[in-house]
Amino acid sequence: MTDNRVVDPTKPSSARIYDFFLGGKDNYEVDRQAAAEILEVWPTVASGVHHNRDFMTRAVRTLSDLGIRQFLDIGTGIPTEPNLHQTAQELNPAARVVYVDNDPLVLAYAHALMASTAEGKVAYIDADVTDPHAILSAPSFAETLNLDEPVAVSLIAVLHFIRDEQDPRGIVDTLMNAMAPGSYLVISHITADFDPETMRRALATYRASGVHAQNRNRDEVTRLFDGYELLDPGVVGVHRWRPRSELPEWRDAEAGCWAGVARKS
Ligand SMILES: C[S@@+](CC[C@H](N)C(=O)[O-])C[C@H]1O[C@@H](n2cnc3c(N)ncnc32)[C@H](O)[C@@H]1O
Repeated sequence: MTDNRVVDPTKPSSARIYDFFLGGKDNYEVDRQAAAEILEVWPTVASGVHHNRDFMTRAVRTLSDLGIRQFLDIGTGIPTEPNLHQTAQELNPAARVVYVDNDPLVLAYAHALMASTAEGKVAYIDADVTDPHAILSAPSFAETLNLDEPVAVSLIAVLHFIRDEQDPRGIVDTLMNAMAPGSYLVISHITADFDPETMRRALATYRASGVHAQNRNRDEVTRLFDGYELLDPGVVGVHRWRPRSELPEWRDAEAGCWAGVARKS
């Protein structure tokens, strides 16, 4: 089992592979090797990753317009501009953001994530999403977020790293149960629904490099939102969630992710 507390340059990490696909420089040879193998079977992966990142920005803008000014972003990733707090604080300088990731390299770069406005606040928690109580009980969590007010909980491109037996649905509920009514849940998740053979091979490549990842279909992703009110347009391809412009149908296979946003009533 990987020791998540130490940066291990000999083993690929999902955060560093993702950083490579985003064009970042915070990755090692093992990550680039794993990324090259994934690219071979999923040539449009980089565009899927950019679609995912754009979804995050559009969701934060939508929620900010709805009055949300507190965000809990789990599975944050290596800093990539715009980071979530930059979008949230550009729209509302008083926005408060708690980031969570379990990758030691993300922790090493946490200072870049914590460059808050004076009016707002940003904190970083080094924790695993499979232990939601550790997140909710971290001192900086309570110091940053006021749980009497709604919070947007984002799990963007992270739940596919969580196995069924780790109970992703239970994790979502534990987090959302701690949040006030009017809070929101934001999820994107890898799927094989658009291009089954490519995704089957891509995820087999991830697993062969030591990173567990799994597809979930639209019903499985939709079930993660059960009990919450999905905003329009529901669970859709990540690039089709309130896009800024019309997209041609052929791009669906590129996205490779389902996405949705729901409200806790
Ligand atoms: C594919 S990246 C997504 C980054 C960002 N959310 C985005 O969409 O641009 C997945 C991130 O989730 C983190 N991650 C994976 N498993 C995790 C876990 N069990 N607990 C916390 N973070 C995890 C990885 O370290 C990585 O930074």
